[in-house]
Amino acid sequence: MNSSQSETELTDRSNRKISGKLILEARNIVAGYVDGVDILQGANLSVYEGELVTVIGSNGAGKSTLAKTIFGLVPVRSGEILFGDRNLVGLNPEQIVRYGISYVPQVANVFPSLSVSDNLDMGAYTREGNITAVKDKIYTAFPVLAKRRNQRAGTLSGGERQMLAMGRAMMLEPELLILDEPSAALSPILVQDIFNLIQQINQTGTSIILVEQNARKALAIADRGYVMHLGKDEFTGKGVDLLNNPEVGKLYLGMGNFTKALPN
Ligand SMILES: Nc1ncnc2c1ncn2[C@@H]1O[C@H](COP(=O)(O)OP(=O)(O)OP(=O)(O)O)[C@@H](O)[C@H]1O
Ligand SMILES: [Mg+2]
Repeated sequence: MNSSQSETELTDRSNRKISGKLILEARNIVAGYVDGVDILQGANLSVYEGELVTVIGSNGAGKSTLAKTIFGLVPVRSGEILFGDRNLVGLNPEQIVRYGISYVPQVANVFPSLSVSDNLDMGAYTREGNITAVKDKIYTAFPVLAKRRNQRAGTLSGGERQMLAMGRAMMLEPELLILDEPSAALSPILVQDIFNLIQQINQTGTSIILVEQNARKALAIADRGYVMHLGKDEFTGKGVDLLNNPEVGKLYLGMGNFTKALPN
């Protein structure tokens, strides 16, 4: 990214001004789980301050791996991940969290035997000082969590649990929130609730990377999007442009391709 580009002011769908400051830049990432098998094969992803960036692609494309790699859960074999002026490569999640990135995995994202309130407290384990004020903010943003604050997380509905997972991540008031398929396995009404919440979190100033199988809906709320294929970004652009791109439509949004239409 050259300086003239990074100084450019971007304008998102709703004409909200984005500062044009690049906060995350993952460049040419090669990463994988097993020796000799690269899952990410030169993946790129950048996030400007205040942006909501969506990552879509077919099953197995490497979306979750990219999210995990940024968060330090998968070792990087080559490439760099810059967050502000820091290179995250080689850091572990605990260190990355302290720099202002929170990550919500697709599964196992709450402690089922703990109450909602205790789950939120656990989310703030790296914070120093009084967490009451931030917890109150979460309860205001997620009223259902306030209502169920003493209930065990394991007894929550799927949608409520997803909200708790997001609330937990927000306890750190991260600069960047990474969400892996927050709408998976939710009913259409709950999907809408979750998407509204994601937009609400973004509008309060948190930048977001949203990995989604609900591709059309996710692109519709995104400032920009990436379409991953075989461990690389195959297409990138404004959310609305990707939605209107005939090739993306055909291959990934179920317009004329039956097999890839199924998951959405
Ligand atoms: N822990 C792991 N160990 C070994 N291989 C893995 C592991 N997790 C994922 N993979 C492999 O990495 C590839 C990419 O998986 P990944 O979960 O990143 O895909 P995805 O795009 O998130 O797919 P989905 O839409 O199904 O969630 C797949 O071939 C998968 O089998
Ligand atoms: Mg995945």
